[in-house]
Amino acid sequence: MQFRDLQKQYQSLKDEIDREIQTVLDSSNYISGSQVVELEEQLADYVGVKHCISCANGTDALQLALMAWNVGQGDAVFVPDFTFFSTGEVVCACQATPVFVDVDPATYNMSAQSLEQAIEKVIAQGGLTPKVVIPVDLFGQPADYDALLPIAQKYNMFVLEDGAQGFGGSIRNKKSGTFGDIATTSFFPAKPLGCYGDGGAIFTDNDEWAGLLRSYRIHGKGESKYDNVRIGMNSRLDTLQAAVLKVKLKAFAEVELDAVNRVAQQYTEGLKGQVVTPVILQDFYSSWAQYTIQLKDSETRNTLQQFL
Ligand SMILES: Cc1ncc(COP(=O)(O)O)c(C=O)c1O
Repeated sequence: MQFRDLQKQYQSLKDEIDREIQTVLDSSNYISGSQVVELEEQLADYVGVKHCISCANGTDALQLALMAWNVGQGDAVFVPDFTFFSTGEVVCACQATPVFVDVDPATYNMSAQSLEQAIEKVIAQGGLTPKVVIPVDLFGQPADYDALLPIAQKYNMFVLEDGAQGFGGSIRNKKSGTFGDIATTSFFPAKPLGCYGDGGAIFTDNDEWAGLLRSYRIHGKGESKYDNVRIGMNSRLDTLQAAVLKVKLKAFAEVELDAVNRVAQQYTEGLKGQVVTPVILQDFYSSWAQYTIQLKDSETRNTLQQFL
């Protein structure tokens, strides 16, 4: 199914998007054009962090963060058991071990109680070092950081916020992208803020990690272009995608995020009593990557799916 009407959205922003794309075509600066740095500054400002490091997609964003922390063999990385594949995939790509943690049945986000149980179990078993927890801001709602962060702190673990679906969400006006020691997002077209291809970004206040992330995303770059000081990746955001995102970020912040919340409210009022509607915690704001409902069994689900 179509999560977002991308064609309609394009038509409403067409003049500005076409103009921005034409500017890139006229300059032929397809890699690392000025639009990339401009976008990174705008994104850092919007989210409320010191550094934004754009990259090729939300999966690379997660992996780059784990690389910056030198996560590898023998490290346990705690991930929710209900998420997109990438959250666990990147852990294995770094040779670390993913440990799956139950989600809360109401919000579908990582349960703090289950996290602590999983950490204790890993410690009791021995062999792995609990190193990172990756809460996911599923469907647009931030994970319950009030409960999760103290646990990560207690066990001296890094928090990597997977905000691939959560861009624009917030808790008491503090935005998704600020809860983890490092946070990531995805600009896959269907995401709350999507580009016209693949794209991603990483957010952090830490200067040292920001420097490492900028190096890792371009082949472990050192002082100059052909000075490669570590094994990295080729994970730049294309200038064309940055140009599109600049226009879309403005529309997202000024109009779309509120509009999508109004529509979600209407759905919830209309569906009340018929199906289980999404639970948004008090003081939490969702960017509604998806509006999900629960039905009583798979047969009812399949019938409704077919009808829709
Ligand atoms: C929770 C979550 N994490 C990571 C990703 C990966 O993002 P990308 O598709 O940009 O690599 C996604 C994308 O669907 C996601 O939903």
